[in-house]
This record gives sequence, C-alpha cells and structure tokens, in this order.
Amino acid sequence: MTTTKKRFASKEKIAEKKIMQGKGVDIGTAFVKCAARKGDSIIFRNQRNAFFEVEFTDFTKKMLDNSVVRYIQKEGKLYVVGDEALKFANIFHKEARRPLSRGIISPTESEALPMIELLIKSIVDKPSIEGEIAYYSVPGEPLDADFNVIYHEKILHGFLTKLGYTPKAINESHAIILSELADEDFTGIGLSFGGGMVNVCLSYISVPIFKFSVTKSGDWIDQQVAMAVNETASRISAIKESSLDLNKGDGLTKFESALSIYYNHLIEYVIENIKDVFEKTEKKPRIDKPISIILAGGTSLPKGFADRFKRILYQLKFPLKIGSIRMASQPVRSVAKGALVAARADEEKR
Ligand SMILES: Nc1ncnc2c1ncn2[C@@H]1O[C@H](COP(=O)(O)OP(=O)(O)OP(=O)(O)O)[C@@H](O)[C@H]1O
Ligand SMILES: [Mg+2]
Repeated sequence: MTTTKKRFASKEKIAEKKIMQGKGVDIGTAFVKCAARKGDSIIFRNQRNAFFEVEFTDFTKKMLDNSVVRYIQKEGKLYVVGDEALKFANIFHKEARRPLSRGIISPTESEALPMIELLIKSIVDKPSIEGEIAYYSVPGEPLDADFNVIYHEKILHGFLTKLGYTPKAINESHAIILSELADEDFTGIGLSFGGGMVNVCLSYISVPIFKFSVTKSGDWIDQQVAMAVNETASRISAIKESSLDLNKGDGLTKFESALSIYYNHLIEYVIENIKDVFEKTEKKPRIDKPISIILAGGTSLPKGFADRFKRILYQLKFPLKIGSIRMASQPVRSVAKGALVAARADEEKR
C-alpha cells in the first residue's frame, strides 16, 4: 500500500469510527439499557437492575466462576447481579434486591452504589474514544414524593465519567420525544410507564414545556394488587408480564380483575396530573395542530393498553387537541434510543 492509500484508509477509518460514536444509556428502576450504533443499525443491551446475595463458600464461588453468571465478591459476601439475580431469588423463594427504587438510587439499599456501577459496566462497553459522549436518562422531579433527583444524577455522572465517557443527562420522557417524534418536529407528549415511575414531557419543537414524574407505576401496581389478593408482588408481576390482556372484558380471574382496576387507576392518575400541570403552566404554548401522545415503557406493554389509555383520556377531557395516541415503535427501548439520538447529534458537532 502506498503512503497516500494508507493515509486515505486511516481517514476513512476515523470517519467510520465517528459515525459509531455516542451512546444512549437508560438506567431504570427495573432495567439498565444501552443503545449504540453498529453499521446502519442500533444495537441494544439490557440487564435487570437487581441483585441477590448468596452465601459465600469456596464451592459456590468456584461454581459461579465456571458459569456465565455475573457476580461480585464484597466483604465476604457474594452477590449475583442482573437477570440471574431473579432466577436465584425464585429458586430460594426470596425477593431479589434492587439498587433503584421509585426511579432513583434507593436510599435504603446499602449496596446500591457498587451494584449499579457493576451493572452499568456490564452493559455499556468501554468508550470507542476517550471522552465519547454518553447521554443517560434521568427522571423528572416527582410531583408526589419528597425527594429530588440531583444525587441520583450526579452519581450516575460519576460512574460514566470513570468509564471514560463524557456523560450528559437527558430527561427520560424527553428522550422518548427525540426517539419517536422526528416527523412531527419533536412536538408532542412522551410518556414512559416504567417500573418505579411514570415520566411525562410535553415538548414543543424539541423544547420541553414541562416535564415531571409520578412515583406510581409497574411496581406500585404489583404491590397494590398483591395486597388486594393476598399474593406476593413478584408472583403478580410474573402474571402481569406474561399474560395480561387489558382488552379482555369477561371471565377475568381475580388477579386480572385487580390488575385491570389498578391499571385504570394509574392511567387516570397520570392524566389528571398532566391536566393539573398544564393548567398551572404560565406561558402555555399556542399549539394549533393536534399533537401526538407516545406511550412507552414496560408497563405500557400489555395488549389493549393504548386503547385503555385513549378511552380514559377522552373521558377526562384533555385540555389540548390530541391527534394520534400510539405506542412507541420499541416501547422498552425508546428512552435509550432517544438518548442515543441526542448523543449522536452532539458527536456530529464535534
Ligand atoms: N409484558 C409486560 N406487561 C406488563 N408489564 C410489564 C411487561 N414487561 C415488563 N413490564 C413491567 O414494566 C416495568 C419495567 O419497565 P421499564 O423497563 O420501562 O422500567 P424502567 O425504565 O426500568 O423503570 P423506571 O423508568 O420507572 O425507572 C416493570 O414494572 C415490569 O413489571
Ligand atoms: Mg424507564
């Protein structure tokens, strides 16, 4: 190869690398997700945001070393992390522990920080260049709880910096707008029905008019239904995730009927809160065209969720003209994808 050719090849390589740069990271109460570019497509990785303590013995450690199970050893204890933590918990008839609660680092979980750090490391590869931009999702300030998200945001910032990234925070439901509403000038409402929270953002030409969260969502449904029917929350969660159909009208089991009641309650609660916040917004944008509402997050996955949401919204008389109400193209990946859109836009400017 001549020197010119060599130079040309390396220039191409740099350009190619630049196209791949940027990561979108979604650190949620239930899952940690990462989106990255690979060629023309986006690749996603995810992992349960959970861990489980197993008794330390040399034998157990050896077994874990010979398996694909991720674990950490800390002060004479072994912790299995991620998806496997739930399997272990089920085998031992216990609950897995969770580093996040209601959308933020759990204030009562003593091992939260090392677990989150490990989980982030396990799904976010090393940066392709030092200082690669990684946008990471943070919840909006909660309307119904007495905490803020500053500590959470700064800790995650620290972990990503340690990995070699230039981290930037993005609001969870704003990310949904970046991911789904490019054809509508990034104007509309993004809703993320997650595990610990529902996040809401009204955006006008990509600028958030308001954003907030409420601390009821999938976990809350599990707990309420569990109390109502005297079951464990993890059993309810398993039923909900495997077979709930919100279109089903007759012949509901007592679990389905309780799930349906709490889904109604959650949707009403979210819409009433959006109405309240909209009423209180001082400089309301004059949006003439009907806007779209995008539904995302794991709790929006059951069949019939969008229809149920539409029905309740029309009953509650929404103050804005609404055009389409639809599911995000990939409801559980939307936040990570939107964060990647933001990261790519910044990388292109560099
Ligand atoms: N098929 C399903 N049907 C109903 N609920 C589901 C389904 N799959 C997952 N879920 C629920 O979705 C929730 C997790 O959703 P998601 O991954 O969007 O949350 P998260 O981003 O980790 O949490 P958050 O945004 O609240 O911090 C859990 O409550 C889980 O039980
Ligand atoms: Mg989420």
